[in-house]
Amino acid sequence: MTSQLTSKRDLYDQLASQLSGLLAGERDLIANAANFSSLVFHSLPDLNWAGFYFAKDGELVLGPFQGKPACVRIRIGQGVCGSGAADRQTVIVPNVHEFPGHIACDSASNSEIVVPLMKDSRLIGVLDLDSPLRSRFDQEDALGLENLVRIFLSSTTS
Ligand code: SME
Repeated sequence: MTSQLTSKRDLYDQLASQLSGLLAGERDLIANAANFSSLVFHSLPDLNWAGFYFAKDGELVLGPFQGKPACVRIRIGQGVCGSGAADRQTVIVPNVHEFPGHIACDSASNSEIVVPLMKDSRLIGVLDLDSPLRSRFDQEDALGLENLVRIFLSSTTS
């Protein structure tokens, strides 16, 4: 148990330094979101989708991602992404089939985590990760991903 947690923390520490290097010197939101989603998708095990939705005109609009094509627009408050955006808090869903209003973009998804992107108390969007495994995400993932989101947000101009 302890070694599992330690290795997950180590993985997020490595990812944090990789992400800092990857985004260094570039301030374009879309470019950095694209590289972020690719790094995470190819580095974290057991994911079938990793990417962004950005807040635009009161709804969430699909941004850069890795995985199968996804629904483009999500209302704030709708589904897992919309809930994270409305509450401005990380949402961990062990079993998406039990989450009221879950939006099924890829039938392979069984668990999900959504991390809101907040800049100066403003909601920019959300980071969304899906897994084919049940209970794939825990508090360690939440802390690790929130740290990666901080690195991403400080790298961009918007
Ligand atoms: N399942 C999400 C929709 C986005 S996809 O998973 C990529 C939700 O319920 O908000």
